[in-house]
Amino acid sequence: MLSHLLHRLGIESVVLETRSRDYVERRVRAGVLEQGSADLLTSAGVGERMIREGLSHDGINLRFAGEQHRIDFRRLTGRGITVYGQQEVVKDLIKQRLEDGGEIWFETEATAVEAIDGDRPRIVYLEDGVPTTLQCEFVAGCDGSHGVASPAVLGSTYERTYPFAWLGILAKTPPAADELIYAYHERGFALHSMRSPEISRLYLQVDAAETMDAWPEDRVWNELRLRLAEPGLQPGEIIEDGITPMRSLVTEPMQRGRLFLAGDAAHIVPATGAKGMNLALGDVRVLAEALAASYRSKSRDLLERYSEVCLRRVWRAEHFSAWMTALLHRDPEGDPFEHKLRLSYLRYVTTSEAAATTLAENYVGFDGA
Ligand code: DHB
Repeated sequence: MLSHLLHRLGIESVVLETRSRDYVERRVRAGVLEQGSADLLTSAGVGERMIREGLSHDGINLRFAGEQHRIDFRRLTGRGITVYGQQEVVKDLIKQRLEDGGEIWFETEATAVEAIDGDRPRIVYLEDGVPTTLQCEFVAGCDGSHGVASPAVLGSTYERTYPFAWLGILAKTPPAADELIYAYHERGFALHSMRSPEISRLYLQVDAAETMDAWPEDRVWNELRLRLAEPGLQPGEIIEDGITPMRSLVTEPMQRGRLFLAGDAAHIVPATGAKGMNLALGDVRVLAEALAASYRSKSRDLLERYSEVCLRRVWRAEHFSAWMTALLHRDPEGDPFEHKLRLSYLRYVTTSEAAATTLAENYVGFDGA
């Protein structure tokens, strides 16, 4: 996305991608676009298929203690969300970049970022196993939490781990509801999302150390039906499954010299609320504009404030994701007091207009942070 935005601003870039095109296009990730993310894709000319195939939702369902409640985003905030898989966004962006003559070097592993404090930073990458240098004017570290860019900033790390993970499946079964169902159950959290009228995306809270071996298909479907209170949920062919750990992490600052971190290289959120891709898109929108301003007017002002501007939005999403995770997950010790507090808060969120608005405006993307 950064490369595409820069291209539209007349700035050349090269994307180094460790994996193959096939790998990144198939890798299943979350699928919720905040209103601002969907608007950004559309205004940047890469939203055509998202508008055609994405599902517009005006709210979500919350289920707990045998109750069903709807949080009406549209009424509470005037905004909505678009359900569209992250790898579909990745496909659309790659296609557009290649059509525009952009350079994406797949299966090219970056091994170091050097000389970031000077005017000519470098990326070292492997070409046929031989370390090779790419001279740059600026480097954007969009290489995730295990990449080489993040450690080069030498920043401070703020981190939280969780004692549970999400088991996710993508299945050929029609969604049981029109909108997402977030369910809190005594046996743990469950989420029913979707990708199309034929394909559902479903998640279960499991212990952090759990593996798929402990979860044969029957067990997965039974547990989903129970926790989601959807006895009619039909088992369908499972296209993809996996267990995703939960983590909160922020690196501050998000920049040093001529290196700027974006997305997971700078921050990780637990999956609840699906903020990861939205935060990454928010970062690169700011970065593209700041880089353009520095070329246009030779003013580094916006670039110098990149981290500060991004971190306000990042920390709002970090808080929201941790809050929604705490609200909906059962702690493995099963503390009965915590359980009662959670039920009380869920009732509050579903009956108080103020509390419902807090959830809604953060879910659709709060841009006043
Ligand atoms: C999805 C993932 C999430 O983490 C979430 O909160 C909602 C939906 C998804 O994959 O559709």
